[in-house]
Formats: sequence, C-alpha cells, structure tokens
Amino acid sequence: MESLLLTRHSNVRDIHSNFYFYSNKIIEAKKKQGLPVWPVVGMLPSLVTGLRSNLYEWITEVLCRQNGTFRFKGPWFSSLNWVVTSDPRNIEHILKTEFLKYPKGSFFRETVHDLLGDGIFNADGEIWHKQRKTTSIEFHSAKFRQLTVESLHELVHSRLLPILHRHFVEHLVPIDLQDILLRLTFDNVCMIAFGVEPGCLNPNLPVIPFAHAFEVATEATVLRFVTPQFLWKTMRHFNLGTEKSLKFALKEVNEFAMNVIEKRRREKVNETERSDLLSVFTGLKDENGEPYSDKFLKDICVNFILAGRDTSSVASSWFFWLIDRNPEVEERIVEEICRILKKRGEAAGESSGGNVKFEVEEIKKMEYLQAALSEALRLFPSVPVDHKEVIQDDVLPNGTELKKGTKLVYAIYAMGRTEAIWGKDCYEFKPERWLRDG
Ligand code: HEM
Repeated sequence: MESLLLTRHSNVRDIHSNFYFYSNKIIEAKKKQGLPVWPVVGMLPSLVTGLRSNLYEWITEVLCRQNGTFRFKGPWFSSLNWVVTSDPRNIEHILKTEFLKYPKGSFFRETVHDLLGDGIFNADGEIWHKQRKTTSIEFHSAKFRQLTVESLHELVHSRLLPILHRHFVEHLVPIDLQDILLRLTFDNVCMIAFGVEPGCLNPNLPVIPFAHAFEVATEATVLRFVTPQFLWKTMRHFNLGTEKSLKFALKEVNEFAMNVIEKRRREKVNETERSDLLSVFTGLKDENGEPYSDKFLKDICVNFILAGRDTSSVASSWFFWLIDRNPEVEERIVEEICRILKKRGEAAGESSGGNVKFEVEEIKKMEYLQAALSEALRLFPSVPVDHKEVIQDDVLPNGTELKKGTKLVYAIYAMGRTEAIWGKDCYEFKPERWLRDG
C-alpha cells in the first residue's frame, strides 16, 4: 500500500515537473521565436487563432515583435514549416539578388498544380523563362496595349457605367461594388487572355458558370496551403469536401478553356488580327519545334485569368473603400481630373454628359491618382503574402540561416505597415507620401 502511495506520489511529482518543464519551454519559445511552441502541434494553435481573426494583422504583429523575421513551426506530422519575413533586405535577396536560388519550389507546385498546371505562376526554370519573355514582349506591344485599352473602354462605358447608373440614379438601390468590380476584371482579363468576353457584366448580372467555377477552384486551392498535405491528398483521393468541389469546378474551367482553344485553332490564328495571349502563344513552337499542346495553352490562359482577376478587383475595391473614408483625397483626385479635362480645350466632360473616355496619355498625367492607388496597394496589397523555396543552404541578409528546401513566406502586407519603413503614420492613408515636390 505504502509503495503504491509512493509510486502514485512520484507519478504526480513527475507530471508536475513535466508540466513545469513544458510550460517553461513554451514560454521560452514564445520569447525567442515570437509564438508559443506546443508539443506535437507546434505553433498551429496560434495560426488557427490568427486565421479566425485578421490573419495578415496577426502576421504583422508577430513580425513586428521579431524584428521582421520568424520561423513558423507547424505540427510535427505536417509540412507547415516556414520562415516568414517582411524585412526588405531579405525580400530583395529572395526576389532579385539571389532569384535563381529561390524558385517557387515543389511544395507550391504540388499544392496548386491541379488548378495552374505548368502556367507562369507555377513554373520555374526554362518553362517559366519562356512564358515570362513572351509575355513581357507581348505586354509592351502596341497591338496588345490597344486591345487592353479598347476592351476596358468598352466594358466600362457600355457595361459598367450603365449598371451603376441604373442602380444609383434610376432605382436608388445600393450595389455590391466588390462583386461588380470582380465581374469587370474577370470579363476584362478573359478578353486579354482568350479574346472572349464571358458576360459577367451583362445587364442582369448573371451567374456565369465559368466565372463561378473559377472562384470555387481558387478558394479550394488556397485552402490547401493551410491544410496538412496528407489530409488534402487523402480528401482528393476519396473525393471529399472541398477537394470534391475543386474537381467539379476544374472540370467546368477546363471545358470552357478547351472549347475556346479548339475554336481558335480552327480560326488559323496566323491569319487573324487577334492580339490576345492565347492567339500569341498558339502561334509559337516549343523547344522541339512543335506547336504548344492544348493543355499547355489552357494552363497559360488560366494563369493569366488568376493573375489579373482578383488582383485588380481587390485593389480597386479597397481603393474605393479608402476614398469613401477620405473625402479630401477624393476631392484632390476630382480636381486633377478636371484640370486635365480643361486642357482638352473643349469642355468635353459637359458635352458628353459626364461619360468621358480618357486617353492613355491623359491617364499618365494623373499623378495624384497614381499616388492614391499606390497608397491603397501599400495598405491593402492584392497579394498580401507570397511563397518561395530555397534550393541550397543560404543565409538571409538579416542573418537567418536556411537549410536547402526551407519554405519562405514573404509578407507584403506586413512590409507596407512597418513603422521602420513608412514612419509612425504607416497605418494612415496618405497619397502625398508617394509624391516629391508636390
Ligand atoms: C492591381 C493589380 C495587380 C497586382 C497588385 C499584381 C501583383 C502581382 C504580384 C505580387 C505578383 C507576384 C510577383 C512574383 O512572384 O515575383 C504578380 C505576378 C504576376 N502578375 Fe500581377 N498583379 C496585378 C495585375 C495583373 C494583371 C492585370 C495581369 C495580367 C493580366 C498580371 C499578370 C501577372 C503575371 C503573369 C505574373 C507572374 C509573373 C512571373 O511569375 O514572372 N497581374 N502580380
């Protein structure tokens, strides 16, 4: 009996000392690494808390405490281990100075491959380089610029403005601006990528199956980044939950894209005047002198739609949100526009009933507007975090040692809200900070 009591007593003592040992380790880890590290699950509980509040503010807070860089340790059974940084020296190192050492990497590629295939967002090395070069040349061509200007003029003046007029002026009903802007950028980027307009901005604002499927596929893919790999792969294997929706959505997206590609091939692109990206890439040959496969052309288009759709719509949504809260900025933008209109000589604004089409050269002169857009992107970057992987051991400029294969997250949102870079007023919307001498 006595020995039983003694054993129980020493067990309790062991539990207590273990408890103190682990508590001390967790507190020490929090002091050193910015977040508590729990046995088995690592920093996952903190990430879950972050995900349930404002994830990007949470990352910013931790980065601020850790001088701009910290290591996130996920559960031991997962691959959720990253170095997170918002230090501009590190970001320049990753994206510029040592660019070749920091590809997107296998973790990223596997996670997004079902949606993006071998398109530019998911490619490294030669496959990336070729797409980048072709795109860069195309984006600077006069023909392509003309296409983007004409497409945007048409969408804004014949679709967007009549819808806004109907809601605000005729019926006096509110409108979900974020939804409208997403419809605008989706139609616009489809024109750029495929040369087709899906019709999201048609007068009755229809649900376009391709656009809806694209949205579902993007959301399900993003979710994979915070789900342990074995879990989403098992779900994909058994066709469960979001993986089931992803499969279904991808079928819709691929069918739409393949239809357009098939039609374009029949048109014999070289004989047409089209300057959208699909037409350009359809006319090119791969390293064996063969035309690109339909699957690769589909990947290219899907990547461009993803690149241009959310980025532009999110940026313009935040921009209008900020303008609404800062009427003095709105006033200065309107003043600048009026000054430029006045220079036309004629009072073009009045004669066209306010529906003025600006030329590219005029838009280039809108410096205050440019500053306000830059400021909106600083506070609400459309890509708040991005990802890279290091292919050999390296040391970041701030001294963080990286082993080959380490995954890195660079936090653009946090960088835009760092006092050391932008000053004490870094949380304020001040377009003037982008202007020198007025
Ligand atoms: C406000 C609008 C936009 C923002 C804030 C934005 C931001 C970004 C960012 C942060 C990246 C990642 C850069 C990197 O990985 O180094 C990126 C890449 C890219 N963006 Fe945009 N983007 C915008 C609009 C567009 C549009 C309209 C298009 C084309 C239709 C586009 C095409 C691309 C492409 C092709 C890439 C991949 C570049 C590469 O990997 O070399 N973006 N963008």
